[in-house]
Amino acid sequence: MNPQTEIIDGLTQTAASISPKYFYDAAGSALFEQITRLPAYYPTRVERQIMTMHGADIAQRIGTGGTVIEPGAGNCEKARALCELVRPERFVALDISEDFLHQAVAGLRAALPGVRVSAVVADLTHAFVLPGDVPMPRRLVFYPGSSIGNFDPLHALALLTRLRALLDTDGALLIGVDMVKDEAALNAAYDDDQGVTAAFNRNVLNHVNRLIGSNFDTAQWKHRAFFNATASRIEMHLEACADIRVQWTGGERHFVRGERIHTENSYKYRADDFVALLRRAGLTQTQVWTNPANWFAMMLARP
Ligand code: AVJ
Repeated sequence: MNPQTEIIDGLTQTAASISPKYFYDAAGSALFEQITRLPAYYPTRVERQIMTMHGADIAQRIGTGGTVIEPGAGNCEKARALCELVRPERFVALDISEDFLHQAVAGLRAALPGVRVSAVVADLTHAFVLPGDVPMPRRLVFYPGSSIGNFDPLHALALLTRLRALLDTDGALLIGVDMVKDEAALNAAYDDDQGVTAAFNRNVLNHVNRLIGSNFDTAQWKHRAFFNATASRIEMHLEACADIRVQWTGGERHFVRGERIHTENSYKYRADDFVALLRRAGLTQTQVWTNPANWFAMMLARP
């Protein structure tokens, strides 16, 4: 499905939705970077703490050389730290945001002169292919940041299975997974008092306007974010502040005041449940590192 069809399809469902992958236009990618520096947004910080504490141990188990492949590489900041530990021969960055990716990869090439760096524009919600010259032996798929949380468990299993398929028996997946925790901490991380997450959520409407020629006015939409304990996920929505009629090329939708567009799920796991999911994806041997409070986990999983 092309982005136009996918977005219009989501907007015209009774319960309207926009896929979180559309957050990441240039402005959205920059806003997400700002989120990662917020005191309330613990995932990036805690993941970095785990890598600082246990990076040498993790790298030792991975071994130097080989190829690191990072789906959703974003600004490549984490890749840089990992490559300094693992010293791969090759690094392959995949991301949906083309301009942002090429800029990040240029920076990475300058920082890691000994590593051959390639960039691939890819949408992880669909099948993707690696360049034909990426060696098969000793691949490490690096999927940090709990990006896996955007997928519901069934689609997470499907993606993990596709990541597993990139690996030979000597390969591994290093994945960051956000843990279930105190609800107040979860809610604060997705509804920060500086309004950065709200701006990030609303910005998806600017991106959608450009993609489908719609006339969303971000000022008319309120940011909503809360933990849904039954589904074990943070949900983000945009709520209509008034009755709103949105038009786009070839269609329209009315929203009544209070009606919501569901923009993101961010699933939170218990470590054992995620290890079981990895197993179902064909990754049967997993080592887990967490911070002392058990807020976030890095898992190294092998076929
Ligand atoms: C990039 C998907 C890991 O779910 O925490 C941050 C995105 N959304 N604040 C997350 C996000 C709101 C983030 N991921």
